[in-house]
Amino acid sequence: MPRRSGIELSARPPKPVSASRTHTVRLMLPVEANNLGSVFGGIILAEIDRVAYITASRHAFAPCLTASFDRVDFIAPVHVGDIVQLDAQVTFVRRTSMEIWIQVSAERIDAERAQLVGNAFVTMVAIDASGRPIPVPELVLTSEEERLRFEEGRRRMDERRKTRAGPGRKE
Ligand SMILES: CC(C)(COP(=O)(O)OP(=O)(O)OC[C@H]1O[C@@H](n2cnc3c(N)ncnc32)[C@H](O)[C@@H]1OP(=O)(O)O)[C@@H](O)C(=O)NCCC(=O)NCCS
Repeated sequence: MPRRSGIELSARPPKPVSASRTHTVRLMLPVEANNLGSVFGGIILAEIDRVAYITASRHAFAPCLTASFDRVDFIAPVHVGDIVQLDAQVTFVRRTSMEIWIQVSAERIDAERAQLVGNAFVTMVAIDASGRPIPVPELVLTSEEERLRFEEGRRRMDERRKTRAGPGRKE
């Protein structure tokens, strides 16, 4: 059975959503923007990937790889000088994979409230030192909202299985 730091990987106790929930903030800089001062979408995607990694690794207690990104719609621009906030949580887990939901909002220094910029769902897979997928802890659901998100996550994961490409596809 795989081990890490003396812990049986498949025997780790279930974890609540709150144990890995992650909030990050970052100031957007001129080097990240076009000549009109709008931040490139790819910069935001990189931030989404980072926060998804942190959240998944916290849940799995192991390093993770990004398996897939769902479609991301940007519903408002981000500008230089904005403070971008990312709120991430695990919504669904299967055996080795986890769905992470990330909400992105931008706060202007002179505005009272942050504006929602977009939402993303990222699938992360926990791996061992050789890069092989390893089991993750079950998710403890403590509210009706979390249970609902879990069921929605299951549906999205089933859909990803049906449509995903690549030589590693087994389903
Ligand atoms: C993700 C990866 C580790 C999966 O490995 P694999 O050999 O295909 O392993 P499996 O088929 O056993 O899949 C492992 C899990 O990943 C899930 N998975 C694999 N590809 C997926 C995809 N494209 N989207 C969503 N989930 C995926 C499987 O459903 C499975 O989940 P489960 O164990 O919870 O049921 C492998 O494809 C990989 O290393 N990809 C490159 C990842 C990477 O480098 N990302 C950064 C890009 S720069």
